[in-house]
Amino acid sequence: MTIPLHPRAEAHGKVIVLGEHAVVYGYPAVAAGLPQGVVLEAQPRPDPRLPVTLTIPAWDLDLELHPASDHPVARACLEVLAHCDGPVTGWAIRGASALPSRAGLGSSAALTVALARLVYGPDASIDDVVAASLAGERVFHGEPSGLDSRVAAQGGVLRYVRGEPPRAINPGAPLPLCIIPSGIPRSTADQVARCRSRLEHLPSVVRPVLIAVGQAVESGIHAIEHGDLDTLGVLFDVAHGLLGALDVSSPALDRMAADARAAGARGAKLTGAGRGGCLLALVGDAPETLTAAFPNLRPLFVEVAAS
Ligand code: PMV
Repeated sequence: MTIPLHPRAEAHGKVIVLGEHAVVYGYPAVAAGLPQGVVLEAQPRPDPRLPVTLTIPAWDLDLELHPASDHPVARACLEVLAHCDGPVTGWAIRGASALPSRAGLGSSAALTVALARLVYGPDASIDDVVAASLAGERVFHGEPSGLDSRVAAQGGVLRYVRGEPPRAINPGAPLPLCIIPSGIPRSTADQVARCRSRLEHLPSVVRPVLIAVGQAVESGIHAIEHGDLDTLGVLFDVAHGLLGALDVSSPALDRMAADARAAGARGAKLTGAGRGGCLLALVGDAPETLTAAFPNLRPLFVEVAAS
């Protein structure tokens, strides 16, 4: 008799709206859940003794969750299933996602949250699901902050400070965001190291930059709560400049930000670790000009409201 799974579960992706890098040093960040995330569906395998499989064509994943597997996704999923007392045999899990993987959009947290929900079911508490997701996230990220898992499980907009419980933010108006994947790979660890190296080299100059990023977050939250998209757009532009000063942007991201503004975005900034990954634009009055400005990059449009 195999351990049962629920037939379907889903989770949000995430985007850091403001505050990346400074959040590592204890300043606040604000992140939003993306309606686009991961959907998993489970079906029994004909032979219940066969290992659980995970197939996500959008991410080129087709795995057996075998205890001997050294694939990080298999190992992470097995950690989640072990945490939840879920099955390791008898199920075929198939996933769909509109998120690019490894682009700073919380794909691994969305996967592990959805997997925990396949075991626990739709009524599981956010805290239980986050704890199970973190068991898998540790395989990918060592000691993750937990922000990605929380946003993946809860959605909405969250203010986050390291070591404190996240606080939900209520947007005064839906946030019209456009996420533009650069297609350039990046390493979060390398980018955090670049910022740290700049801080250590010039602490009296760079520490105020980190403080300014934190201030942009607080002003940004005020703007989000009051539906003041014009001010939020200006804060995106300021944050992008500050992130450049922290040495985590790149000529490609700077060009993309300029192109997004020229195409009518209210503001644009890198999001997440930087150097590659994604650009985040606050959509202005004409979203179609943004699409036209990035013909080869498949912009993802999202409206983020309260969870
Ligand atoms: O890995 P990403 O792209 O989701 O973003 C990392 C955010 C950083 O602030 C750069 C690092 C961190 O641990 O918060």
